[in-house]
Amino acid sequence: MIILAVETSCDDTCISILNIKNQKSKIRDSKFEILSNIISSQVKIHQKYGGVYPFLAKREHQRNLASVLKQSLLEAKLLKSKIKHQISKTQIKIQKLKEILKREEVLYQQLEEFLKNYQKPKIDAIAITIGPGLEPCLWVGVNFAKALSYYWNLPIIPVNHIEAHILANWLSPVGNVKHQISNVKTLFPAVCLVVSGGHTQLILMNNFGKYKILGETRDDAAGECFDKVARILGLDYPGGPAIAAQAQIVRGQASVKLPRPMIKQKNYDFSFSGLKTAVLYNFKKQSPKNRKKEKYIKEICYETQQAIVDVLIKKTIKAAKNYKAKAIILGGGVAANRQFRIQFQQKLKKEKLSFKFYVPGFKFCTDNAVMVGIAGYYNWLKGKTKTWQKIKADANLRID
Ligand code: KG4
Ligand code: ZN
Repeated sequence: MIILAVETSCDDTCISILNIKNQKSKIRDSKFEILSNIISSQVKIHQKYGGVYPFLAKREHQRNLASVLKQSLLEAKLLKSKIKHQISKTQIKIQKLKEILKREEVLYQQLEEFLKNYQKPKIDAIAITIGPGLEPCLWVGVNFAKALSYYWNLPIIPVNHIEAHILANWLSPVGNVKHQISNVKTLFPAVCLVVSGGHTQLILMNNFGKYKILGETRDDAAGECFDKVARILGLDYPGGPAIAAQAQIVRGQASVKLPRPMIKQKNYDFSFSGLKTAVLYNFKKQSPKNRKKEKYIKEICYETQQAIVDVLIKKTIKAAKNYKAKAIILGGGVAANRQFRIQFQQKLKKEKLSFKFYVPGFKFCTDNAVMVGIAGYYNWLKGKTKTWQKIKADANLRID
């Protein structure tokens, strides 16, 4: 089975094509071969705002989608030009296409041109992120997927972005994490932590499609905190990698001390906006000269990263213990943080905790469409396929 997956929930325009091999009734036997994985990042555009500006992001998705589609099909060796007589037959379909993309004029023009010139590729279904995410961004992707589904007469599989971040772990074993998610029997229940720019959620996974949210952030997401702190300190967007690159204690102990919000509370919720405010106050307290000092920047970055890492590890392990989880599964952009990954494993080892520990490869932590394809495949197995008329974006979609 070949799935074309589309992801536009935030600021990356992503299209990936997956070939699902060893497809058997037992889902754990499936293997995902990545035929293409195109990510068109908008980082440069949002950099000056220090965060994602939804309407700019929507505009960029519109501009990018047709060319990302072409690149993705090309990389997967599925792009074939039409022969002359096929071109004229497509006129009636083009009218409907215009209707589906009536709010995306630029995208419509580019897609029309593309569809006029290229044949329907050998794919079996289209997977699309329908939520949660930024509403205007989600809708561009959804309308694009609907247009393709209609034009090529293919089923659509709606995908939850958070579930996609979790299922990115089904791709392959990663780095020095020895386990491979293959034996589902010893995996569930699993405690999943999805930490990204838009979300921080602790989720109990009892099986594919069976989730319960245990807790989540009450204000800013962990990635958002990284981004906002970076902005305060005058570092690049996205803030996570920028802060990680600076984080270092120059001599002895960090002179800056920051709070670990909600770390001692019994619930599984998080709160990161206070941490950002603490950084802001600390920064304002410094003399203009000190604010620019390398030592100060390195130390406050170190403390910010450490505060976030401490809270995430503590609460996830607590949930895993209380719910007698067999595995801990991470996902989302913040899971790409090296210190977070290293310290998590060290903590498990130090406390002699036997939870299996999974985290996607670095490039599959941040947004991509491969994870959408994987989630799409599992949804397809569950019969969650829809016709294009029934697909809607839902910015507040919940996994449970
Ligand atoms: O999953 P993602 O690509 O998009 C959302 O679904 O939001 O996550 C993006 C977030 C950004 O806030 C970014 O600063 C953060 O992930 N991030 C990191 C790292 N790489 C990306 N945070 C900490 N350390 C990193 N290495
Ligand atoms: Zn994401």
